[in-house]
Amino acid sequence: MRLVELAHSKIKEFIRPGDLCIDATAGNGYDTLFLARQISPFGKVYAVDIQKLSIEQTVKRLNSHGFDEILRTFHGSHTKIRNLLDKSEHGKVSAIMFNLGYLPGGDHAITTTTEDTIFALNEAYVILRQGGVITALCYRGHSEGTKETKKVFELCKEKKWDVEVVEGSSNPQSPVLILIKKTRMD
Ligand SMILES: C[S@@+](CC[C@H](N)C(=O)[O-])C[C@H]1O[C@@H](n2cnc3c(N)ncnc32)[C@H](O)[C@@H]1O
Repeated sequence: MRLVELAHSKIKEFIRPGDLCIDATAGNGYDTLFLARQISPFGKVYAVDIQKLSIEQTVKRLNSHGFDEILRTFHGSHTKIRNLLDKSEHGKVSAIMFNLGYLPGGDHAITTTTEDTIFALNEAYVILRQGGVITALCYRGHSEGTKETKKVFELCKEKKWDVEVVEGSSNPQSPVLILIKKTRMD
């Protein structure tokens, strides 16, 4: 099973219809669509991306599946995810997905950065509900991705977060899926 599919199957254990969730790197909208399918017919899914094209593609994809009512979009950095929500929604988000790196088929120069990813993961943990999950799918095949993955591991260790790690293969350059579970309130 590909790590994207594995992330989906793991997330299913954490979300139910009516929940609030966030795709922090919307890209082509596949993860947003997956989240929408889990929470529909109620709930809300936020799609966040720094590329306008990604937001447009995500809107198109969700509209074509009839999920326009539950979709909210934000064209900007995921460093701002906490501010997207109403204060009353802080601590209520069930799942937040980060599929890091660059947009497949898009501009490879526009990639997630270590600094923003670390900041956004901290913000994501704050708005996550107890019992919720953050997934970070990290790509170690390019230099920024290698650095980013290393820092994500360091952050999880420093914060003593409850994590589950699944490596794509024994190749140290293969992608790695990190699940951060908010098992305690802090
Ligand atoms: C690997 S793609 C995501 C794939 C996507 N989840 C899907 O289902 O198609 C990574 C995305 O992260 C976006 N991105 C990069 N830096 C970002 C940031 N600071 N905030 C939000 N999105 C960012 C890129 O524009 C790109 O679309």
